[in-house]
Amino acid sequence: MPILWRPQLTTGSERLDQDHKYLFCIFNCIELALSSPDQIRHIPLFFEQLIDYTDEHFSREEQVQLQIGYHGYMEHKMEHQRLLERLKNLNDDIKKIAATDEGINHPDVLAAGFDKDILNLARSWIIGHVAKMDTGMLPYLKQHPAMFP
Ligand SMILES: [Fe+2]
Ligand SMILES: [Fe+2]
Repeated sequence: MPILWRPQLTTGSERLDQDHKYLFCIFNCIELALSSPDQIRHIPLFFEQLIDYTDEHFSREEQVQLQIGYHGYMEHKMEHQRLLERLKNLNDDIKKIAATDEGINHPDVLAAGFDKDILNLARSWIIGHVAKMDTGMLPYLKQHPAMFP
């Protein structure tokens, strides 16, 4: 099922919310590709994009937190590092599967290797982080609407 952004997930910054929507969108692309045999080969690329954009987004979010003197900055930054590390480990697994002969030539083998559990796991990490930690910035970012539209 696709992930949909909802207003309860707002951080108080339109820019950061846009990032979250885009990350959800990449997950939805991966899920769609998984259910379509001729699209499965694109999954490693989508996952690579997910890693790159997550990295970029985390840096942006941390910069915002530094600018507002966010009290939870260090804890939040450490959680970002843990999350990114886990996603990179998953990405390494995906690249290994895709690099095998079976992975390249047989979409069904590739699909089985990707396993929906992997996707669900990664997705729950991101959604959980946005819902539990990023929304904690809302009261602070609301105080700086002009700085962080
Ligand atoms: Fe975050
Ligand atoms: Fe975030």
